[in-house]
Amino acid sequence: MIRRIAVLTSGGDAPGMNACLRAVIRAGLFHGISMYVIYEGLRGLVEGKIEQVDKDFTQDIINRGGTIIRSARLPEFKDPKIVKRAANILQDFEIDALVGIGGDGTFRGLNDLSKYGIKVVGIPGTIDNDVGSTEQTIGFSTALNTICSCIDKLKDTCGSHQRCSLIEVMGRHCGDLAMYAALAEGAEGVICVEHPLKEDQLFRKLRKMKAQNKSHAIIVVSENLLDINELAKKIEEETGFDTRTEVLGRLQRGGSPSAEDRILAARMGARSIDIVLDKDSGSRIIGMRGGQIVDLPIEEAVEMKHEHTHGLRQLIDMLQ
Ligand code: F6P
Repeated sequence: MIRRIAVLTSGGDAPGMNACLRAVIRAGLFHGISMYVIYEGLRGLVEGKIEQVDKDFTQDIINRGGTIIRSARLPEFKDPKIVKRAANILQDFEIDALVGIGGDGTFRGLNDLSKYGIKVVGIPGTIDNDVGSTEQTIGFSTALNTICSCIDKLKDTCGSHQRCSLIEVMGRHCGDLAMYAALAEGAEGVICVEHPLKEDQLFRKLRKMKAQNKSHAIIVVSENLLDINELAKKIEEETGFDTRTEVLGRLQRGGSPSAEDRILAARMGARSIDIVLDKDSGSRIIGMRGGQIVDLPIEEAVEMKHEHTHGLRQLIDMLQ
């Protein structure tokens, strides 16, 4: 019998986490369950920062960026002693199940907790879109829109000065933000793990554009790959294109969630309660596949690697 469910947000915050929190809490209350929040992610869980909430707690949060229950990274959660302490705290509060909104790191922590007999459900929330068990994470759509609106603005100034702009975007080690932004912006180039830099090819293209007197060139670069200032210097030397760099940084994580993220959050949040209430299902991770909300056993989901959309690279190359 499930009487108490707790929910937390963990890892890098993502737009839509609040909308998801709202959906989890409201779906739980709808089914007559006492709902609890855990502040500051897995770290807050270990510190016992748990509080019961009602429907009013979720008032006016659907459109808010960030996460009102805050988030944290806790690499030490790999330590079995810390996991055990977290499990004991959940037992002390008589929590029957835990819903965690976050990325791969959060899911690994939830998986470890599930070994102590606690039913857990993971919901993918991260701007990176790097979770293996889903085609889309909550936050990705908003971050992509933010990147596109920044690039639109950069195009105005680049075009006025006939410049090349190198724009570094987030994604940790996943190129989805870079590739989808490049596609959506018709960028002249994209550099990411899935689409590595081919210097000669890039320089040739920029030289040609310069000779044709093109007004600007946009190159989207994934973080953690190369020094964009070094590359900018090389581009100037090799192609004569006046070049500037921009690191969009954590701006990409903020802002009001897109309608797409809010809807994904609502669907996934409600599904998490269905899973908890289904006495035949164990701990699961929720995902989206082919437009449908799906869920997988947690041990299977945490082993999956994110695959980028089939044909995306070729499409970007063809339309450049
Ligand atoms: O995982 C989300 C993310 O924004 C990554 O894109 C980025 O590499 C990382 O978090 C930055 O984390 P922090 O804000 O903790 O430095």
